[in-house]
Amino acid sequence: MKEFYDRSSQNKKLKDKTAIITGGSSGIGRSISKLFASEGASVLVADIREKAREDNISVVDEITGSGGSARYVQTDVTSLSDLEDAFQEALNYYKKIDIVVNNAGVLLMKPITEVTEEEYNWLMDINVKGVYFGVKLAAKYMIKQKTGGSIINMSSVAGLLGFSGATTYCTSKGAVTNLTRAAAVELGPHGIRVNCINPGVIKTAMTTKDVNMVGKLEVPIGRDGNTNEVASAALFLASDQSSYVNGHTLLVDGGYAAQ
Ligand SMILES: NC(=O)c1ccc[n+]([C@@H]2O[C@H](COP(=O)([O-])OP(=O)(O)OC[C@H]3O[C@@H](n4cnc5c(N)ncnc54)[C@H](O)[C@@H]3O)[C@@H](O)[C@H]2O)c1
Repeated sequence: MKEFYDRSSQNKKLKDKTAIITGGSSGIGRSISKLFASEGASVLVADIREKAREDNISVVDEITGSGGSARYVQTDVTSLSDLEDAFQEALNYYKKIDIVVNNAGVLLMKPITEVTEEEYNWLMDINVKGVYFGVKLAAKYMIKQKTGGSIINMSSVAGLLGFSGATTYCTSKGAVTNLTRAAAVELGPHGIRVNCINPGVIKTAMTTKDVNMVGKLEVPIGRDGNTNEVASAALFLASDQSSYVNGHTLLVDGGYAAQ
């Protein structure tokens, strides 16, 4: 295991890189945090909770316990000052910011006729405002550093397709998808790539505890996805292997949106 997390290895895809991952304590974000750390990155987990929603284990403990580099900063992505603090903490400890994954998000399943203003504001604040200002801060620091960077936003198949009972979520993820394109155009000249990942149903607390989505979609590949399959896509977008990929919408959905 130590070998796995050995950051000095020449073959690591994120050797000497630093990454901020919002919502990095649970589910998809947790798998991304662990994979990035195993590929040599120093990881700052910015989440409202330190322990995973699914099993109450701290991802930072998992990573550091295996010889990797990770820190946790309690962060509510709806608060600009919390986000600023997380970025500042990453700079204080890691001296630079190479990768930002704006992953924190929430789901609401409700008919549009029943959605309240409070619910709408709650979801949009986390899913859209949180991502928007995550991109803004990433851009601010990456431009200043003059080292380029990779920004990855967590959208969804619901950012490209309509789902009944998910109007707020679809609205928010559509915004994330097109924010990604606009930011990619604006930040490309600075060597900053901005891409999004659009997963189908992935088994996490969101799709088991919040709403039972497991096995509900007819997916060509015949099953739901797992968090490691999304993390692999994030690693590709974070690493130099995707050096000419910018403004892309990377579906990780077993072919669902292709039907
Ligand atoms: N699970 C899926 O099927 C699926 C599919 C498509 C897209 N997504 C997207 O992937 C992302 C991660 O989803 P998941 O399934 O891992 O969810 P999850 O609920 O398992 O984990 C989400 C994490 O975000 C954190 N979070 C929530 N609100 C926050 C806030 N205000 N500030 C900071 N952190 C906050 C939670 O504490 C949690 O650790 C979300 O953006 C979600 O919309 C998930």
